[in-house]
Amino acid sequence: MRLPFVLCTLALAALSAAMSGCDSHAANTNTNASGAAQPAATNAVANAAPQAQTRAEVFAHVKQMSSLGEKLFFDPSLSGSGKLACASCHSPSHAFGPPNALSVQLGGNDMHQPGFRAVPSLEYLQSVPAFTRHFHDSDDEGDESVDAGPTGGLTWDGRVDHGSDQARIPLLSSFEMGSTPAKVAASVKASPYADDFRKAFGANVFDSDDKTFAAVLQSLEAFEQTPAKFYPYTSKFDAFLAGRAKLNDAEMHGLQLFNDENKGNCASCHISQRAKDGSPPQFSDFGLIAIGVPRNRALPINRNPKFHDLGACGPERTDLKGQDEYCGTFRTPSLRNVATRKTFFHNGIYHKLDDVVRFYVERDTNPEKFYPVSKKGVVDKFDDLPKQYWSNINTEPPFDRKKGDKPALDEAEIKDVVAFLNTLTDGYDPAKDKDSQKGIGIGQMKSASN
Ligand code: HEC
Ligand code: HEC
Repeated sequence: MRLPFVLCTLALAALSAAMSGCDSHAANTNTNASGAAQPAATNAVANAAPQAQTRAEVFAHVKQMSSLGEKLFFDPSLSGSGKLACASCHSPSHAFGPPNALSVQLGGNDMHQPGFRAVPSLEYLQSVPAFTRHFHDSDDEGDESVDAGPTGGLTWDGRVDHGSDQARIPLLSSFEMGSTPAKVAASVKASPYADDFRKAFGANVFDSDDKTFAAVLQSLEAFEQTPAKFYPYTSKFDAFLAGRAKLNDAEMHGLQLFNDENKGNCASCHISQRAKDGSPPQFSDFGLIAIGVPRNRALPINRNPKFHDLGACGPERTDLKGQDEYCGTFRTPSLRNVATRKTFFHNGIYHKLDDVVRFYVERDTNPEKFYPVSKKGVVDKFDDLPKQYWSNINTEPPFDRKKGDKPALDEAEIKDVVAFLNTLTDGYDPAKDKDSQKGIGIGQMKSASN
């Protein structure tokens, strides 16, 4: 079901040869006869004219593009202000997520324009499928006839399918890099890597701004598919799955609570098991789901009581506007490297992992802890979603409790879940951890291994 990396890069290379292909597939939601999602890049391969490139040439070209993409990613001269690079918001030392605890980052020409969404990590996006309204996946459900609902696509609302289409958004957004294709093209032409651009894309790459801009977008996409940087699978949990490290008591208990349907039930959306093909868990099913995250009143845009970020049904995403069943839904993020973040959820409302976990288990039992309470003591539950969309809000465990019920996890259990989440941070080396063989190994634990 997931597109193997090799195919992705081949698609990229084929596309780069047929430069125009970059736009032609942008809006595709591909379904096959059974309605199952097709990774959009498969189509790209099929759509691109047959190329006479050998495999070696294809890989060499992808390498050229990704090395250019890396330079672009760190280059603030592409922005309107000259001060903001992709890396300013997507910090390489924070799993390509935000470098600070701000709910949203500042951008625009004066560097003071706030966005209204938290910066997501760019890691582990390689397995996000193209957006589809009806996702059928035997891997997740054990039965392909089960419709898992809207799934996939990049950004919090799944509105684009390819890194190249995505990169256009921050480059041109007035509250992010605030640039134009002409400004980007001029910067690249004047950059120290202009010659590398000619080598990778042909001597005529600077003939038109559109051509240069398309090459920039493709290079950024190629960079975002560099495995060692964007999906290294070097966390303690990966070492545990491979039998090279053991989890301590708190981590192991946390994993069990994370998986247990009667406790956290986190793994029902943040999948913690290997896929059927043996590939490592991604900690997301990529579903677009409404969980009723509280309104973040610290965001300037929320001073307007009429403004609501409704996720898939707008305002950033426009193709599902007015389709009520998508309102309030956001794509489930992977939890890999989540402990490197200091800001959580689409509106960045929380800044500590234990607050996030507490929200899950007490949203319904103690809503007064998360939502505003009136003088008369009435809780304004789900205060960031107009009432007509409340039926979209998820009520599966741990969200199946009532006010006054016992929360699915107590404080000690919340701590253990957080300890487990900390094992998902990349860069773990069992050889450097004297405790790596203390605790419980994969052999002693059945449910996480298969
Ligand atoms: C001002 C901060 C900022 C800058 C600069 C920025 N981004 Fe982002 N990025 C964001 C935010 C916020 C989102 C989420 C947007 C949304 O959901 O609408 C995002 C989302 C993304 C995503 C989708 C991630 C996902 O989980 O689906 C990718 C890919 C991405 N950015 C790449 C880039 C690239 C490439 C650049 C440079 C050309 C860049 N970003 C510059 C803030 C930024
Ligand atoms: C019903 C599906 C579902 C379940 C169950 C679920 N999550 Fe989530 N999770 C989501 C979605 C959707 C989001 C994004 C919500 C948003 O921002 O509006 C999310 C976001 C998060 C985030 C924030 C990540 C970030 O980058 O901002 C964390 C941490 C998290 N979940 C942990 C957990 C834990 C721990 C549990 C179990 C106690 C859990 N989740 C259960 C769907 C789910």
